Amino acid sequence: MTLCATGDLVDEARGAGRAVVAFNVITLEHVEAVVAGLEQAALPGIVQVSENAVRFRQGAVLPLARAAAACAEASGARLALHLDHVTDPGLLRQAREAGFSSVMFDAGAAPYQENVRATREAADWAHGQGLWVEAELGYVGGKPDAPASAHEEGVRTDPEEAAAYVAATEVDALAVAVGSSHAMTERTASLDHDLVRALARRLDVPLVLHGSSGVPDDELRRAVEAGMTKVNIGTALNLAFTGEVRDHLGQHPDVSDPRKYLRDARDAMASAVAQLAAVVSAPTRA
Ligand code: G3H
Ligand code: ZN
Repeated sequence: MTLCATGDLVDEARGAGRAVVAFNVITLEHVEAVVAGLEQAALPGIVQVSENAVRFRQGAVLPLARAAAACAEASGARLALHLDHVTDPGLLRQAREAGFSSVMFDAGAAPYQENVRATREAADWAHGQGLWVEAELGYVGGKPDAPASAHEEGVRTDPEEAAAYVAATEVDALAVAVGSSHAMTERTASLDHDLVRALARRLDVPLVLHGSSGVPDDELRRAVEAGMTKVNIGTALNLAFTGEVRDHLGQHPDVSDPRKYLRDARDAMASAVAQLAAVVSAPTRA
């Protein structure tokens, strides 16, 4: 199927009172699992490549991006490609050529005025390329530059400041800090649903939840009901992948062919994708 544009999938989800799920990929097996899981669930979704994943590939974005595009185009699922957590303007400038329809420009670690300046510059350039732009205001925890806790004073996104930020930067969607934290390996996060509702009421643009792996199913449903429209998930796939590999190697210490354990790892990720996509994509808002 032809690739979809992220902005179209997000608008469609918003209109239907639900969210669209976005999965971060690192290996080809992640990509295949996202495609297989979304086909199994018969749901649309977004395949995301983060700047960190590009760094893991020695700075080369094209190998994983082209693989993701090829898998998505061959799939029966409706899929879009998104370049995630970009801080490097050089990487941003490769987004279009690499096949992404959207980018998240991440100046979330910078002071407010610097975040606005850098994001506005990035958004102006990206919009000129026809890209949909997401940015972050507030600190979603769990990144090296973020405060230790998602519950620290001043970490959450303030609705009035967010409205001014969106007006000043002209971004198309806003990642907000409402209690989730990146890279959680236990699903124990509790979100500030009143804040999600206040942000959704105050802002014209869709809201994005980062660090969703640590958010239990019911909290995810409540967040979508309160107004989250794009839900980003990464670590949950890595837990499924690595858990299977660890089990397989524990049971078969002499194995050498990686296909023996990568097959199980890919299947485990595909099941996680189908399950999480169903939770996030269920209509909850009127
Ligand atoms: O942008 C990516 C997400 O925020 C993923 O976060 O790995 O904690 O699920 P996660
Ligand atoms: Zn994130």
